[in-house]
Amino acid sequence: MTIDDEDDLVRLRAIGAIVAETLRFMGSKLEPGITTKELDDLGRERLDAAGARSAPEVAYDFPGATCISVHPAVAHGIPGNQVIRAGDLVNIDVSAEKDGLFADTGASFIVPPARPEAMALCHGTRLALDSAVKAVRAGRPLNIIGRTVEEVARRQGLSIVRNLQSHGVGTALHEEPHHIPSYYDPHDHRRIHAGMVFTIEPFLSTGAEWADETGDGWTLATAPRHLTAQYEHTLVATRSGAIVVTR
Ligand code: CO
Ligand code: CO
Repeated sequence: MTIDDEDDLVRLRAIGAIVAETLRFMGSKLEPGITTKELDDLGRERLDAAGARSAPEVAYDFPGATCISVHPAVAHGIPGNQVIRAGDLVNIDVSAEKDGLFADTGASFIVPPARPEAMALCHGTRLALDSAVKAVRAGRPLNIIGRTVEEVARRQGLSIVRNLQSHGVGTALHEEPHHIPSYYDPHDHRRIHAGMVFTIEPFLSTGAEWADETGDGWTLATAPRHLTAQYEHTLVATRSGAIVVTR
């Protein structure tokens, strides 16, 4: 969507704060012994209490309020009876709707003890997100996002999962501009315009370049020998930079 007045921005900030707080809360409850379903229930309670509805449920009939993906799953993991164990790399993705507007956020967490390789991956992926957010400005080419993520990934020695991309959001969970890649595409001539609402969500890896379907109809995974992480924010582009609504 394009934000064109203060009321839109107020509503987008409200749902952004709700998903951010829900993600933070769920991350704080992530410990050995909890199941992904129990974690999802905690997230659902938070969304309910805030008057928000799970976006994957509303938009896609997803079997859960949030997506919880435990390595080697990287995205769209279905909450269930899987028990979290020490050392797991877990991605939690929270998206929700309130008053007609959607926001989307996600983060990867390492359940201690953390392996150095996993810590470096998470650090590098977060850095890629932060750098791409800083590159956003109305008037710039949209492919500055992929260009920036690719530069950071290269410097960090990480690979880019090419088929998981950022996207427009706001009046729907996924909307125009679709398919914002995390790699540089010189043939993408789209521009960032003032008020444009979209996510940035690089999936970086210790070697994987593709996420595959796993057979349950939802979960996407990379090869088990590689670790993959994602961090995601929803933001609004302005002439002076990005307003991140999911901080
Ligand atoms: Co998301
Ligand atoms: Co997203």
